[in-house]
Amino acid sequence: MKGLYLWSLLAVLSFSCKDKSGSVSDSVKEEPFVYDMYQPSEMALLMEEMYNHGLKTKQDIIDGKQPVDFPLEFLKIHSAEFSKGKGRNEIFDNFSKLFIETQKQVYETDTEIDLKDRHNNSVNVCITCHQTECTGPIPRIKKLLIQ
Ligand code: HEC
Repeated sequence: MKGLYLWSLLAVLSFSCKDKSGSVSDSVKEEPFVYDMYQPSEMALLMEEMYNHGLKTKQDIIDGKQPVDFPLEFLKIHSAEFSKGKGRNEIFDNFSKLFIETQKQVYETDTEIDLKDRHNNSVNVCITCHQTECTGPIPRIKKLLIQ
């Protein structure tokens, strides 16, 4: 029973991200087809890019390669537009700064800190920020962690 409860809770949470953006119920009333034309926001597209890049970085690190170029497009996190109904706030701004800082550390070469730990630190900032407002993608993001 407990497990079932947890799963339904997770199911609800995983929708919380899009629901806030989504006046889906409103659109259904006025424009029945809007529902099928979900347009990811600039921020959502950037996040997907960060996810894919994270997968590549993870593989590089596992293969013993030092990632070389900090992806400058990640800086768009400071300006990209959100889905409708969402917006920037102080918590987001603080976590996005921390995320950029920890990302840059992955590309540093004169440091004593283990590359794997630097990568995982940064992924943990993704997860922590997501815990504050967009929990849906967390299980996916966790796949970026190097065990
Ligand atoms: C500063 C907070 C923050 C950080 C850091 C952050 N995210 Fe996000 N993420 C968000 C928010 C807010 C959204 C919802 C954006 C929207 O709907 O416009 C989002 C959306 C997403 C989505 C869903 C995109 C879609 O298709 O709707 C994925 C996947 C994602 N993030 C992955 C990541 C990954 C991977 C990282 C780290 C490499 C990361 N995020 C770092 C706040 C953050």
